Amino acid sequence: MPTPKDVYIAVIGAGGVGKCFLSQLEFLSKRLAANSSSPRLSLVLISRSKKILYSPQYAPLPFDNISTKLADSTQQPLPLTKTIEFLAAAPSKVILVDNTSSQDIADQYPNVLSRGISIVTPNKKAFSGSYQLWQDIFAAAASSGAGVYHESSVGAGLPVISTLKDLVDTGDSVTRIEGVFSGTMSFLFNSFAPTEGSGGKWSAEVAKAKELGYTEPDPRDDLNGLDVARKLTILARLVGLQVESPTSFPVQSLIPKELESVASGDEFLQRLPEFDAQMEETKISAEKEGKVVRFVGSIDVEKNVVKVGLEKFDRSHAIASLKGSDNIISFYTKRYGANPLIVQGAGAGGEVTAMGVTGDLLRVLQRIS
Ligand SMILES: NC(=O)c1ccc[n+]([C@@H]2O[C@H](COP(=O)([O-])OP(=O)(O)OC[C@H]3O[C@@H](n4cnc5c(N)ncnc54)[C@H](OP(=O)(O)O)[C@@H]3O)[C@@H](O)[C@H]2O)c1
Repeated sequence: MPTPKDVYIAVIGAGGVGKCFLSQLEFLSKRLAANSSSPRLSLVLISRSKKILYSPQYAPLPFDNISTKLADSTQQPLPLTKTIEFLAAAPSKVILVDNTSSQDIADQYPNVLSRGISIVTPNKKAFSGSYQLWQDIFAAAASSGAGVYHESSVGAGLPVISTLKDLVDTGDSVTRIEGVFSGTMSFLFNSFAPTEGSGGKWSAEVAKAKELGYTEPDPRDDLNGLDVARKLTILARLVGLQVESPTSFPVQSLIPKELESVASGDEFLQRLPEFDAQMEETKISAEKEGKVVRFVGSIDVEKNVVKVGLEKFDRSHAIASLKGSDNIISFYTKRYGANPLIVQGAGAGGEVTAMGVTGDLLRVLQRIS
């Protein structure tokens, strides 16, 4: 029999982030179990694209070797709508953890939330898609009382969204947000245009980043700027701007026009050296001003201007001196004056991203239990 303290957890997606999340969930549920007044967490469902593991009677699934058991599961996968039905019928509160990047799942959030199921997720799609979806999500959460948290959708585990919400909710006036929001772009520009030395050729740096696993399988998925635009869309909306979509403001793509339609990522990389002169020119023009070039996103709240693209920074600027693949996000506000509140550190990686998701789970627990 469930007790009022039981909270059921359903996890969709067990990839890089999902696997780390599961081990953090195991730690958390053990920690909470040690205190009789804490909620009791039960993992009742876990799924991947074509695999599912769940207990029809909502009995907790043991954590040991859970990813292997999921891979070996012979249970018939449930369509998403059936999964939602199953969770909505649970005799206790439910939190759905979406560790995928699926738009189909994101589109179901209003439905999930209106059934009283809370959501935590690093998936950007729901919050950076149409403005209508954004409104539907928060309207559904408000009317059912379910929670929806997505800290890791911007800057992975870095406290970006919670910081911005605190600034807004406590009455500070955020005037500008600016930063490097992509680990890939950070790595590329820190090596292409370092503050010390001259850096390599653009195409060579892109090839190196791919080799080291810093880019998507097709680097054009990083270089088109859309991922950064999605993150900016989320932050702009949180600060009150009605941004229609991530393509409704200027986003500079670093894919040469001629290579937009080449068939594969490999062909793209092969031909990229033909276009090195363009990026070299940008680098040299910044150097002539004693600056370096960086790929940044910014939101000018007062002017209602959101943009993503290349900008020049003094070598001493915090954005210029970023290291490795770190992210940096600066909040300029009335309270903080001329020196912005800066959040900086790893903006990608399974463990840190999962930490943001687990932190959100704790926030939901505080709310619902
Ligand atoms: N990795 C990072 O550093 C990072 C940082 C910030 C945010 N994020 C976000 O975190 C999320 C997960 O990233 P990841 O790196 O873990 O991705 P990943 O390794 O590709 O894993 C995605 C998981 O989702 C499953 N999946 C995809 N579509 C599904 C569907 N329709 N139904 C059920 N399961 C589905 C996949 O299952 P199969 O393997 O069976 O296809 C896989 O288990 C993404 O939204 C990403 O943008 C990641």
